[in-house]
Amino acid sequence: MARIVITSRLTPHAVDLLEATDHEVFYRDEPSPMPRAELLVAVATADALVSSLADRIDAELLANAPSLQVVANVAVGLDNIDLVHAAAQQIVICNTPGVLDAATADVAIFLMLAARRRTTDREAELREGRWQGWGIAENLALDLSGSVLGLIGYGRIAQAVARRARAFDMDVLHHTRHDTGEPGWVADVTELAGVVDVLSLHVPLTSETAGLISASVLGAMKSTAVVINTARGAVLDEEALAEALEKGKIFGAGLDVYQGEPSVNPRLLRAPHTVLLPHIGSATEGTRRAMCELALRSVLSVLAGELPENRVN
Ligand code: DGY
Repeated sequence: MARIVITSRLTPHAVDLLEATDHEVFYRDEPSPMPRAELLVAVATADALVSSLADRIDAELLANAPSLQVVANVAVGLDNIDLVHAAAQQIVICNTPGVLDAATADVAIFLMLAARRRTTDREAELREGRWQGWGIAENLALDLSGSVLGLIGYGRIAQAVARRARAFDMDVLHHTRHDTGEPGWVADVTELAGVVDVLSLHVPLTSETAGLISASVLGAMKSTAVVINTARGAVLDEEALAEALEKGKIFGAGLDVYQGEPSVNPRLLRAPHTVLLPHIGSATEGTRRAMCELALRSVLSVLAGELPENRVN
């Protein structure tokens, strides 16, 4: 019998998957991240950990977890986990790829539409009673249809965004470090930024991608372009983005993720033409359920001596 620690609330019924097992389950049925001190105590006797992206699975924690065999992160991103130390301790790390592509791509398209059409500002005016009525030359914004999309990263989520974008008659370009061999690959990030109307970020946060969308990349963008981020906040230099928005160097932004989540850079809160969501890319009932089930199944597989397909090491 193994001990499985689940650090925060999963979707309804997901934990039912564990009912038939003999394993001992510590289920913390709270939406907030597990306080660090509690997490350190809980992992000390855990064989398996089901974590959220808000749990920091670092060297200190791993060193404190002598019997840990598997960590299943209920997220596709793994920037909260020290993969090097996990590998050194032969801990299997699993994430939840694939099942969240459609939901996240939908939110990226939503942010593009909202930023291009300035719907957040317009809705606020209406709700505050400031709408003066329909006018031929009023409330003008920018088309999404027919515009050029630049994807930074070309994994599953980016490709799901590309499919949706083509339905909007957008031309789709993409940048990855190595040539994908697909039409529309652009070798240089700044060059890509300079020719697109929408720049959408789809890379994991690593030491190589932190700050990738820098002041100079933003400076290369058209004054009519928008930046969309559904990846990780730190891929983007938020201060540089705020500056570009405040000075009208770019048209707008649509953000779902932030460097210091859950706090948001106050300059971004005030920035013009900016649509802000609270990291809801994968937050649909069906998607989160699928993520939870995938994470729990992978824990059970590892404890049964199997190596699940969604392991990353
Ligand atoms: C992930 O899975 O990494 C997302 O950011 C949460 O949906």
